[in-house]
Amino acid sequence: MNKKELSLYGEHVETMRSRYDKIMDEFGISEIVIASGVIDYYFADDRPVVFKSTPHFAHWCPLEGPGHLLQVCKNKKPKLIFFSPNDYWDLAPTADGKPWLKNFDVQLETELANRFNHFIESSSTPWFIGSDSQIPTNYSVNDEKLTKALDWNRSFKTPWEVHCIRTANKIAAAGHLRSKELFVESQSSEFDILMEFCVATGYASHELPYNPIIAFDEHAATLHYEQKLKIKKATTLLIDAGVNYYGYASDITRTHLTTNKRESIQRRVISEKAHQVFSNLLTKLNQFQIKFISEIGPGDSYVDLHKETCLAIYEILSQEKIILSCPEEEAWKYAAVRPFFPHGLGHMLGIQVHDVSGKQQNMNGAMFNPNESFPTLRNYRTVEVGNVFTIEPGIYFIENLLEELKSKHEEIKIDWELVAELIPLGGIRIEDNVYVGENGTENLTRSFLP
Ligand code: GLY
Ligand code: MN
Ligand code: MN
Repeated sequence: MNKKELSLYGEHVETMRSRYDKIMDEFGISEIVIASGVIDYYFADDRPVVFKSTPHFAHWCPLEGPGHLLQVCKNKKPKLIFFSPNDYWDLAPTADGKPWLKNFDVQLETELANRFNHFIESSSTPWFIGSDSQIPTNYSVNDEKLTKALDWNRSFKTPWEVHCIRTANKIAAAGHLRSKELFVESQSSEFDILMEFCVATGYASHELPYNPIIAFDEHAATLHYEQKLKIKKATTLLIDAGVNYYGYASDITRTHLTTNKRESIQRRVISEKAHQVFSNLLTKLNQFQIKFISEIGPGDSYVDLHKETCLAIYEILSQEKIILSCPEEEAWKYAAVRPFFPHGLGHMLGIQVHDVSGKQQNMNGAMFNPNESFPTLRNYRTVEVGNVFTIEPGIYFIENLLEELKSKHEEIKIDWELVAELIPLGGIRIEDNVYVGENGTENLTRSFLP
């Protein structure tokens, strides 16, 4: 952390303290202990799953690794039990190079069994969040109402958190620029692009916040395509990849089209017409997405934003003569668009890529009823200052969804021949990260990536 970051982080801890104090008052409690977590193993194996801290712990401090505990009491510097075993199998963490630790009363502990002894002055029933192998029996563990209240807080990002997500965008942008260059200018595979994304950003793939989606041609029509083939040919690339910065993720997608009309990854011919239409769709969806984000502000309903996007996609598909006609009512237009855009417009973003509280109504934990018209939407809230979320419209050619549309909805006229020609090109998604601040909405991605 540089000096400016150290100061932002210090302010973040202050904000966290006052938020926790307020919540503890409301719950009538005086102490919350949060665990960084335990190592998980694959079934019947001694190989560990990649460790990820309890998000509530990561919200307080960017200390990696299992076994740490944080005790938060009212009006007191939080106490961090820094677990650093005397070990020669695994690398134990040290306090070196972590100037941000000054925000905590740090107590080093080498023995797993002794960690909870640091809380001798504890209240009679401390509240506990996370998982640990040795939670004392008098602790009240993972109370749902408490976690919901804390989740709600996480949707209002502090300046430190926004800085982390902005920086995670800046770093990931370098990876995206390199990926595009590699794809457009040379023979490269999905696997090659993953490797270069890691080199350009300086992250090993297990350090990334999610397994990047690097999808050639038809592969882009599988929304969570996670393979990385070594075949070096394609006409389109959909790359959805981000990085972490002090525990905060970026989540960015770009779609690229080469001028080549190669045989697709599934050995289909790509026609001149399909190439041109896909290029138009890409340009139009990109233009729409940029303008749309610039107009988002506090008070907007996320459900309405999703609906507006569906109608914009309807227009684009009509202009490109993919949808030929459809009854005028909006419900029909949504039905026509759904197979081409089957996921939600976006989600909250932060410590978790699909961050918490998008379907929460308030701090008390009341949840919105499932939206039956748009079941894949992850955010039902009203946009508020402090929110960070993704906006990720897409247009895909997903064979089984299109078959269903064809067989069920005769009222919707589609140019099925053109659709068949577009299937080898897979699909488009364009995803940016958005911060709604007091002084306006900031597209955290576009400052670094066209
Ligand atoms: N990367 C997963 C998503 O965009 O939601
Ligand atoms: Mn996303
Ligand atoms: Mn994504």
